[in-house]
Amino acid sequence: MLDSFAGSGTTGAVAHKMGRRWIMVELGEHCHTHIIPRLKKVIDSTDPGGITEAVNWKGGGGFRYYRLAPSLLEKDKWGQWVISKEFNPAMLAEAVCKLEGFTYAPSDTVYWQQGRSTERDFIYVTTQHLSADQLAQLSDEVGPERTLLVLCAAFRVLKGGTERYPNLTVKKIPKQVLSRCEWGHDDYSLKVENLPKAPPKAGQQELGL
Ligand SMILES: C[S@@+](CC[C@H](N)C(=O)[O-])C[C@H]1O[C@@H](n2cnc3c(N)ncnc32)[C@H](O)[C@@H]1O
Repeated sequence: MLDSFAGSGTTGAVAHKMGRRWIMVELGEHCHTHIIPRLKKVIDSTDPGGITEAVNWKGGGGFRYYRLAPSLLEKDKWGQWVISKEFNPAMLAEAVCKLEGFTYAPSDTVYWQQGRSTERDFIYVTTQHLSADQLAQLSDEVGPERTLLVLCAAFRVLKGGTERYPNLTVKKIPKQVLSRCEWGHDDYSLKVENLPKAPPKAGQQELGL
């Protein structure tokens, strides 16, 4: 069940008592003032009324709370998509890792290893405009045994394009992020993350949440 205008969280509370999975979204402070306290009561079985009796609700289950990041891209005064100024380098790297299916794991020593998809495949996210020289240097450092996805604001290549660097895949951030957005579809299938399951407490009912 999805309620993108959660308010006091009634829809989620009812869904929870019915043993259904739910997602709620709220713009205001209601998350803290209403929704979280309410759902804690539902879980502890101290939220009587509504359908509690009808479904014989005895408490249990759990939920996770996330704060949404601002939009990664915004339009500048010329109508061009640019990276939002609200993103610092670490937030940007983490957000792009997520979009590209990499695990965010910045190395303390190697600046271009910000995330990885395998032992040998890395991602480097930067707001820089990379020159052909910088790309050549990166390619040398990555070497023949590893591969690197480079997401940057812009890049310049010499004749032969990025083919010159077989261990690098170079892309521009706004373009790459926009290509991940779906516009004008009739059907938006929601891809929900498989959230890690909290272990049930002793004696707690398993709801399959
Ligand atoms: C009337 S309440 C919804 C009641 C709720 N559906 C229920 O079952 O109890 C509307 C809520 O939507 C929130 N809201 C308005 N615009 C929003 C937006 N763009 N994104 C998320 N929440 C929004 C408001 O802050 C308000 O708390």
